Amino acid sequence: MITGKYPSLRLRRSRKNDWSRRLIEENNLSPSDFILPIFLIEGKNKKQPIKSMPDVYRYTLDKLSSLVDKAIKNKLPMIALFPNTEKKKKDFKGTEALNENNLVCRAIQLIKKKYKNEIGIMCDVALDPYTLHGHDGLLKSGYVLNDETIKVLINQSLLQAEMGCDVLAPSDMMDGRVGEIRKTLDKNKFQMVQILSYAVKYASSYYGPFRDAVGSKGLLKGNKKNYQMDFRNNNEALREVALDIKEGADMVMVKPGLPYIDIIKTVKENFKIPVIAYQVSGEYSLLSNGINKGFIDKSIILETLIAFKRAGANAIVSYYADRLDKILK
Ligand code: PBG
Repeated sequence: MITGKYPSLRLRRSRKNDWSRRLIEENNLSPSDFILPIFLIEGKNKKQPIKSMPDVYRYTLDKLSSLVDKAIKNKLPMIALFPNTEKKKKDFKGTEALNENNLVCRAIQLIKKKYKNEIGIMCDVALDPYTLHGHDGLLKSGYVLNDETIKVLINQSLLQAEMGCDVLAPSDMMDGRVGEIRKTLDKNKFQMVQILSYAVKYASSYYGPFRDAVGSKGLLKGNKKNYQMDFRNNNEALREVALDIKEGADMVMVKPGLPYIDIIKTVKENFKIPVIAYQVSGEYSLLSNGINKGFIDKSIILETLIAFKRAGANAIVSYYADRLDKILK
């Protein structure tokens, strides 16, 4: 591997000038590497700040066009829609997930009608934005039921596909749901709708600000440890990915991102499948708060995002994706 030695070999030689550093750079980022999450709320003409996420907002549907216009202009390949459902529409079974007039369904239709296939739309498949207990599935005696939940998720998937969603992203961690969703999509002529499985999703404290953003934070009873993964485990991540690929996932997600950078790398090396990293809300807020307080320079954002590329991620879901002009330059 090492082909020479000091003093004839000097690695600093190629670091001396900017042109030379650029010449030998091994990893880089472009807007095509990003997915922009968008939080939705009911109402009109609102851009509502989210207390736990500096510079991230919830938008009413009439504000969507300007966001999507900008995303397309900046060459982002995909957006991800997340609804903040009004409390009065939540119940214990997450019924609102199956309402064809819910926020997400209206948003998909609006965007598809106006922008056709100029940009991809990704939607979560899970019940947590719609349940009064804040869990991703049906709850019975403190346990999230697997097979019963899948039955609802299949219908949620089908509905979102009918509305025009391009990429379904099951984020619920039920066993076997990817296969069941694939089967249902294929049976209903949605063979071309993709599945991005949240294959490796850890039970994580890094999701706190997101739960605030979608309004499930105060509601969540207990934790999600009986379905999301234990952060002590890495072999288990490979088993999850292997299963989801077998069941028909087109891409897999690792989430959270930076604290699980080792997992991104092993998944990529083992499976050679498109791997998406989710730089989650807690990661975002930690960085942004540090920067906003002046404790740390904003160049830390690029440094952090490049780590995902080095590890082998194909793309990154990031709340910074609407400000890449300032970050990537
Ligand atoms: C819900 C979901 C969560 C996130 C994406 N989809 C939260 C959770 O599982 O509690 C987290 C995203 C983030 O923190 O940015 N299934």
